[in-house]
Amino acid sequence: MHLNLKAEITETSAYKIGALQERYQELIQEGMDIINCTIGDPKDDTPKTIRTSLLNSVQKMHNSQYPSYIGTLQLRTSISESLSKEYSTYFDPETMIVSCNGTKEAIYSFPQLFDWLNNKCVSIPSLSYPVYLLSAKYNQIPFQIMNVSKETNFLPDLSKIDIENTQLLWINSPHNPTTTIASYDYLKQLIELAEKNNFIICSDECYNDLYYDEKPTSILEFDSEHWVCFRSLSKRSHMTGYRSGAVISKNRELIKQLKKFRSPMGVGTPSFIQDSAIAAWSDHDHVAQHRASYKNKRDKIISALNKLDLNYHGATAGFYLWVSSPNHQSSESLAEWFLKKGILVTPGTVFGPDGNPYIRMVYCLTDDMIDKVCTHILK
Ligand SMILES: Cc1ncc(COP(=O)(O)O)c(C=O)c1O
Repeated sequence: MHLNLKAEITETSAYKIGALQERYQELIQEGMDIINCTIGDPKDDTPKTIRTSLLNSVQKMHNSQYPSYIGTLQLRTSISESLSKEYSTYFDPETMIVSCNGTKEAIYSFPQLFDWLNNKCVSIPSLSYPVYLLSAKYNQIPFQIMNVSKETNFLPDLSKIDIENTQLLWINSPHNPTTTIASYDYLKQLIELAEKNNFIICSDECYNDLYYDEKPTSILEFDSEHWVCFRSLSKRSHMTGYRSGAVISKNRELIKQLKKFRSPMGVGTPSFIQDSAIAAWSDHDHVAQHRASYKNKRDKIISALNKLDLNYHGATAGFYLWVSSPNHQSSESLAEWFLKKGILVTPGTVFGPDGNPYIRMVYCLTDDMIDKVCTHILK
């Protein structure tokens, strides 16, 4: 049978991070002693208070009802209280916040809300979380790539963007994969451009709570209708498996239409997950503990890398190390070097061609695994 499928889907290779997980399983089956440092999926426990609130919620559910697809008012209020306290500005839970099933689905679908028959495009950094580009490709949305490199501190050079044609622009700070943080001044300038040229900044702030130096500026600090912000519980609260995040904007019309757009999508987060998300948003102590723990893990790996001819960039936020070596001219060659040491890492090119010659390694591992990574690096 001929399936009349979109070439944008059939001709795109598999999601590369997923393919690396298959590779890991193959290597394990071959009997290799290997540590998987490819995926930003925290291995330490989800805090007990969050797990307890999930169990309590299920216990109370004698029957099962469809959940609120925008998040219960109680959940949106807890998101509002958490963010309003952190950024000293008010986010109205009724008109400025929508909950989502983890931010990946919301990031993927958000551009579909817009009309693309106007010759406008979505602007995407050349090194990015792959979902921005795949969303554009799969949905036949025009896109332009904004080049980033070490010289631009892995942020798009604002003077070089084709602003006139931009309708949406993705920015991710702290940045996956490089950990670069956009400064207050950079974001301020970007907002000025968005206001002047009438586009929306899509600010993916998945790693904003995990910092080891200065707290990163958030787009939430700016009083503008030209941004939409994606915040996730996955990394800050070790809840990747729960699927819970939030979309926030001060543009009430945008949020109103986003709710309408999402209503037929079937993305309502199960009620018991929403209840556990309230426990997560209401508690900042566990996030501070995670920061301290990741700082410690990061320091151990950095000290091992420093003993060899390996360089890393940034590393003051998130839980990735963006590593290069003067002895390796390509990401693949450096990834192969790590593999020989029993460490599976992600070639930088998975995030775009400008990822050469770097690799990304994660340190969201247990302390035992971190010690093993250090031993493997130095063997
Ligand atoms: C930059 C970035 N944004 C968004 C996500 C999606 O996270 P989640 O769907 O778990 O909220 C990830 C996950 O790795 C990410 O790295």
